[in-house]
Amino acid sequence: MESDVRSSKDTVLIFDTTLRDGEQSPGATLHTQEKIEIARQLARLGVDIIEAGFPAASPGDLEAVQRVASTVGTPDGPAIAGLARAVKRDIDKAWEAVQPAAKPRIHTFLATSDIHVQHKLRMTRREVVERVGEMVAHAKQYCDDVEFSPEDAGRSDPEFLYEVLDVAIRAGATTLNIPDTVGYTMPAEFGQLIRDIIANAIGGRDVVISVHTHNDLGLATANALAGVLNGARQVECTINGIGERAGNCSLEEVVMALYTRHPFFNLRTNIVHQEIHRTSDMVSRYTGMVIQPNKAIVGANAFAHEAGIHQDGVLKHKRTYEIMDAQTIGLAQSKLVLGKHSGRHAFRIRLEEMGYELEGEKLNEVFARFKRLADKKKDVTDADIEAIVADEVYQPPETYRLDHVQVSCGDHSIPTATVRLVKDDDTVITDASLGTGPVDAIYQAINRVVQVPNKLIEFSVQAVTEGIDAVGDVTVRIESEEPVGTEISATTERRGRRIFSGRGADTDIVVASAKAYMQALNKLLAANGQT
Ligand code: KIV
Ligand code: ZN
Repeated sequence: MESDVRSSKDTVLIFDTTLRDGEQSPGATLHTQEKIEIARQLARLGVDIIEAGFPAASPGDLEAVQRVASTVGTPDGPAIAGLARAVKRDIDKAWEAVQPAAKPRIHTFLATSDIHVQHKLRMTRREVVERVGEMVAHAKQYCDDVEFSPEDAGRSDPEFLYEVLDVAIRAGATTLNIPDTVGYTMPAEFGQLIRDIIANAIGGRDVVISVHTHNDLGLATANALAGVLNGARQVECTINGIGERAGNCSLEEVVMALYTRHPFFNLRTNIVHQEIHRTSDMVSRYTGMVIQPNKAIVGANAFAHEAGIHQDGVLKHKRTYEIMDAQTIGLAQSKLVLGKHSGRHAFRIRLEEMGYELEGEKLNEVFARFKRLADKKKDVTDADIEAIVADEVYQPPETYRLDHVQVSCGDHSIPTATVRLVKDDDTVITDASLGTGPVDAIYQAINRVVQVPNKLIEFSVQAVTEGIDAVGDVTVRIESEEPVGTEISATTERRGRRIFSGRGADTDIVVASAKAYMQALNKLLAANGQT
């Protein structure tokens, strides 16, 4: 096999598609700097391949993949893949984007189920077979490492699937990825499909079989593991399981199942487990996709033992109710890090240890913010620092900046807010509004200035750490009330209303709420500018 990724019979390669399939979740749009930060963290996590995007979608997507390829795609780092439909233009763009990586990969796909072939592609089966052969060969001219996916394989006629996969291998594909695109199959069925493909289409040839499962019936992880048990040696997944509709197979679930049940699977991955929690947190922050508290492995309750009987058992013997240690995924490692007497140098070293490479102005901003927090809060933890970094540094282009917010409220007063915003041409605009509560008053005051029709569809507050002085982390999702741009992904093209998320952190949750709303509005305004 010519692919240069670290594979062996007992290693399952982890192909992370958070930046491509994950970013297709409504409202999860990331800007280039956020993608680079996530890609760096994925490299620290030890993923084998990062699918960095769909370069043909837009010049911005191409540039983002290119920058990930040149900064994170080092010889010791992960392979960098770009997705392409099975058309020359997409493949050319994918190559242009991944070429700077030390280990570039082109991932091309074409649907094989009758429902897709007839109704979406409007092609015949013959045409599909020919196109696959031509386009895999086209990709192969550029790149040794070519992956091919028969989209909707889970609902495809197996005999036709074998024929298409055979053609892809002959044309030079080194990885064959089997997607259950609509999350339709059952684990036993999907496992059998992988076994049959290996027996009927591969014929001992040196290619990696991969699985790509979706969670529409809540079976993405089970299906991926069934694939692995039947011979797949690459799993395509996303952090926190984000992705379109019910999402993709979750990286942390598959990896921790393989690790915790090693005697059962007898397989390993190259993942650095201690980085799981940090990666999950970063992806949640940047995408605005809040993790449900009972989410396996990374949910806030995943390691909490509330019920008395459980606590009693855990105190007597940890393994009565805990099958994994929180430390394994990097939780509860260093609680107290720095205090108000810590200097810039110590702060910078701590940031580097946490994986953030900040310089100059950005470092100054974050350090000033840390100092302000340390004045208010006795113990500044890693989680606080991460919240500051995310909040202060990786902001989308700001059409409006929040300069000042003030609220008056209480049980006998009408909530009233005043806001002062600064526009990107330095105009200062102040306005005020009443509201049903303090947050409503602020949002109405901001709307009076920004004047972009939108609806608040989600608002949530979480404490970053425990205690009354905790930093509050607010996430909002807003929906544009008018069509905004065109959202293009590899498999869909949406016109119309769009969802944008925003996140803000502060010890004052009213201020955090204002920041989160401003971030979402700035994303909406930026997308409007792209039309
Ligand atoms: O779900 C799917 O089929 C995909 C392909 C593009 C691999 O995401
Ligand atoms: Zn997918």
